[in-house]
Amino acid sequence: KARLAILLSGRGSNMVALVQAVQHGVLQNLAEVAVVFSNKPEAPGLKTAAALGCPTASLGSQDRKRAEFDAEVVDVLRQYQPDYVVLAGYMRILSPTFIRAFAGRILNIHPADTHQHQGLHAYEWAFENQLPETKITVHLVDEGLDTGPILAQHPVDLRGVDTLAEVERRGLAVEHTLYADTLAGLLRGQLRISNEELRIGSADSDGFPQF
Ligand code: GAR
Repeated sequence: KARLAILLSGRGSNMVALVQAVQHGVLQNLAEVAVVFSNKPEAPGLKTAAALGCPTASLGSQDRKRAEFDAEVVDVLRQYQPDYVVLAGYMRILSPTFIRAFAGRILNIHPADTHQHQGLHAYEWAFENQLPETKITVHLVDEGLDTGPILAQHPVDLRGVDTLAEVERRGLAVEHTLYADTLAGLLRGQLRISNEELRIGSADSDGFPQF
């Protein structure tokens, strides 16, 4: 079974969906949760993860320099020997140190088409621009902001929505199934990703599979 380190900064609804998929869903025979980590010790998602029976860890990132902090996070995560680092609302840009430590093995879910919108506030962007549809994207993380190779996308129908809350409700429902399904496809070897597409300076080869 692949060992997952799930990283979050807040609510953790994607983490819950992933843990449920591991416990009794599409990831049941494919993955286990090595740790749920947060850069915010007070994140509600951490408590939820513990209540679901997951090992948890945290390091406060406030006022920390990015590279220095990320080096410490890498040390913490390595203790749990993750095969994949799964970002689930982890609201921090990762430094090259972090990306290279887990090159090709970091996944992110983004609430928009990463070719159209990068960074924060993707649901606000879709709502304010009155888009008829947005696309939830699961992608591999490289050194750019939301630039990594796309693993899967799924449309969200936004016709007729009149509040941001409704946009988020529809989007999250898609996120919660797409993330686990995509990870399951990846772990079953049903997704092919070429290494060339990853923008990574110098990937270390520490015995883990590279794409
Ligand atoms: C989710 O909508 C996720 O796609 C988004 O943050 C939310 C976290 O919710 N991530 C990003 O915007 C990353 N740029 P959750 O904590 O309930 O999973």
